Amino acid sequence: MSIVKEFKEQCETPLRKLREVADAMKVEMHAGLDSEGASRMLKMLITYVQNLPTGDEKGLFYALDLGGTNIRALRVHLGGKEEATSLAKFVSSEPEDFHPPPGRQRELGFTFSFPVRQTSIVSGTLIKWTKSFNIEGLVGEDVVRELTKSMEKIGLDMRVAALVNDTVGTLARARFSNQDVIVGVIFGTGTNAAYVEHAHAIPKWHGLVPKSGEMVINTEWGDFCSIHLPLTEYDQALDAETINPGEQIFEKVISGMYLGDIVRRALLKMAEEADFFGDTVPPKLAIPFILKAYDMAAMNHDSSSDLKVVGNRLRDIFEIHNTSLEVRKIVVELCDIVVIRAARLAAAGIFGLLQKTGRDKVKVGEQQRSVIALDGGLFEQYPKFRTCLESTLKELLGVEAAETIVIEHSQDGSGIGAALLAASHSQYLGMKD
Ligand code: BG6
Ligand code: GLC
Repeated sequence: MSIVKEFKEQCETPLRKLREVADAMKVEMHAGLDSEGASRMLKMLITYVQNLPTGDEKGLFYALDLGGTNIRALRVHLGGKEEATSLAKFVSSEPEDFHPPPGRQRELGFTFSFPVRQTSIVSGTLIKWTKSFNIEGLVGEDVVRELTKSMEKIGLDMRVAALVNDTVGTLARARFSNQDVIVGVIFGTGTNAAYVEHAHAIPKWHGLVPKSGEMVINTEWGDFCSIHLPLTEYDQALDAETINPGEQIFEKVISGMYLGDIVRRALLKMAEEADFFGDTVPPKLAIPFILKAYDMAAMNHDSSSDLKVVGNRLRDIFEIHNTSLEVRKIVVELCDIVVIRAARLAAAGIFGLLQKTGRDKVKVGEQQRSVIALDGGLFEQYPKFRTCLESTLKELLGVEAAETIVIEHSQDGSGIGAALLAASHSQYLGMKD
């Protein structure tokens, strides 16, 4: 069918194109580290995380994780972890021995997965909302102050000890167990990466050079855009209908929030222009975001000979009944096109970051190993995305360099990572328990 063929061609990501994307990403990363604020370059936000966990962190800390699919509260006690529905519930159910010593407050790592201009490890203003979040009146406000006010209102005696992006939390969590970790990436509702940079390579940083000589940078790469990105009419139409048109373009071709809608738009066009589902257009096909990435994953991994899962999803989501095997196969092909483009571009992003840090090549006489910690629903629950991402990264790196790069799943990383950073930034550090 010509619509599918055309779509496939437009979504193609040969290695040459991926290298162009990675190079453009690297250039924008440099520009973002040079100066603050130009609209069409990566934000490269300074996180004030200058020391990552060493593995020696001790004590009882809390985390609030806001900005992915789920809001989560965690209580992290040295190696162990528990989870509950709300912070208040946790605290009210605490056994005696969980109470902080007299005169001390409970300390919280606050994972806030949006672009924030930080002014310290415990303060920062929201630059803009991304994904589908849009709470009025918060842009430009200090998110820690707002959270603290809310906690005070309900009588929760707790202080934020670290404000972190989910990518930074993921990086910190993974670093706790493995000192070779240098990058944290999220492929979930949105996508983003954070990495460890040399302080002297950040011209826009005018503060003291940290003792570690390092600073974690939140790239906000979801906002990356380049003429090299293979964009289609469906991507453009989707972008125009989001809360942030013209922004977060890399995110809109890669992350879990958008992939299903790209497929839906292609199906709608096929129904309208090629009677793909018969002579009427199924009305539900016109509903934005009705097809989720997890539906795509289920259809994409349907191994039954009659593609039963695909048929059931088409019936349950779009009320399209009795689809033929041929139709089902084409639906799977569309899912393939969209997820493969996403995974290959995701790999190009990681490759760009590795180029930026000089970890994309094997250096003579050095046995450097670099670990990339990944998390997020798309990475976790869409095997095709994961395997294609990994194989594409290998293609980009070449055999020798690929052996020095390890991809690791940092499960539940960001919440635990935030608690660890709360520990390393505790105001009671060095005081006796
Ligand atoms: C979770 C992290 O595992 O992944 C969150 O703990 C993060 O902090 C989330 O935001 C991203 O994935 P998703 O799929 O929930 O957007
Ligand atoms: C969006 C947010 C970013 C976050 C990412 C993954 O891109 O802007 O801060 O890290 O989603 O959750």
